[in-house]
Amino acid sequence: MTMIRKGVIPAAGLGTRFLPATKSMPKEMLPIIDKPLIQFVIEEAINSGIGDIIIITGKGKRAIEDYFDTSPELENHLIRTKKYELLRAVQDIASLADIHYIRQKEPKGLGDAVLKAEKHIGDEPFAVLLGDDIIMSSATPCTKQLMDLFERYGHSIIAVEEVPNEKISDYGIIKGRETEHSVYRLEEIIEKPSLEEAPSTIGTVGRYIFTPEIFNCIKETPPGKGNEVQLTDAIRMLMEREEVYAYAFKGKRYDAGNKVGYIEAILDFALERADLREAILSYLQHKDNY
Ligand code: G1P
Repeated sequence: MTMIRKGVIPAAGLGTRFLPATKSMPKEMLPIIDKPLIQFVIEEAINSGIGDIIIITGKGKRAIEDYFDTSPELENHLIRTKKYELLRAVQDIASLADIHYIRQKEPKGLGDAVLKAEKHIGDEPFAVLLGDDIIMSSATPCTKQLMDLFERYGHSIIAVEEVPNEKISDYGIIKGRETEHSVYRLEEIIEKPSLEEAPSTIGTVGRYIFTPEIFNCIKETPPGKGNEVQLTDAIRMLMEREEVYAYAFKGKRYDAGNKVGYIEAILDFALERADLREAILSYLQHKDNY
């Protein structure tokens, strides 16, 4: 069985939900306190054992490349001012993983973005991690949970969780037959259905393990919702060719792609930090009209 060694992080989206902030700044660089969103996802990949990462970028995404590069001027400044802890934090970022960048010239959809990684991935299974989803797991990272299942099943696996009715139309929604606790053999998947069309209330979140056959499926997938090549539509095609599984992962997911989810992530992460917890709790407790 081939091990998962490579991960794809699509980061070419326009970030319209966070305009105007994202007019001149990639949404992936929005910070959760002092760490940009994309770093959480990269750390999850690395902590899952993935050391080869392909970021699919687009126009206006240079800040991502700069962020993961070395920064001699800044490092010299931190040495001169003896800020060694910050220096280590800055240097660690540049040595996190082997990161490659591929540009998607036009934003033609998530499916198209993943297809851009085909040459680099070659003929082996790989992971896809979407930057909008931040997933905190107490022990095993979500991607590693999927990789462990892939080792047993040998088929593509996507992470899912229960979504509230009013959010159904924001997700890819699946129908599946449970094969063991929390594992489903996929029988249907629809991108952003209405509540009436939805085959269940189980939605896909942004973590996937794919066999390389997904690339052929994407190539044959016509534009779907929003006139974009949807990854979900390619997964439906894959499901007709091979077994595909869904897994209700263990962990808490923040949808940092929307404003409420983003703010929840900031608050929870602040409350987890010894240097911030007391001050934030006290602020929330004493705030008028809260
Ligand atoms: C994308 C996918 C959708 C999935 C979601 C998870 O949608 O197209 O199938 O459920 O990510 O976050 P987006 O959030 O980019 O609109």
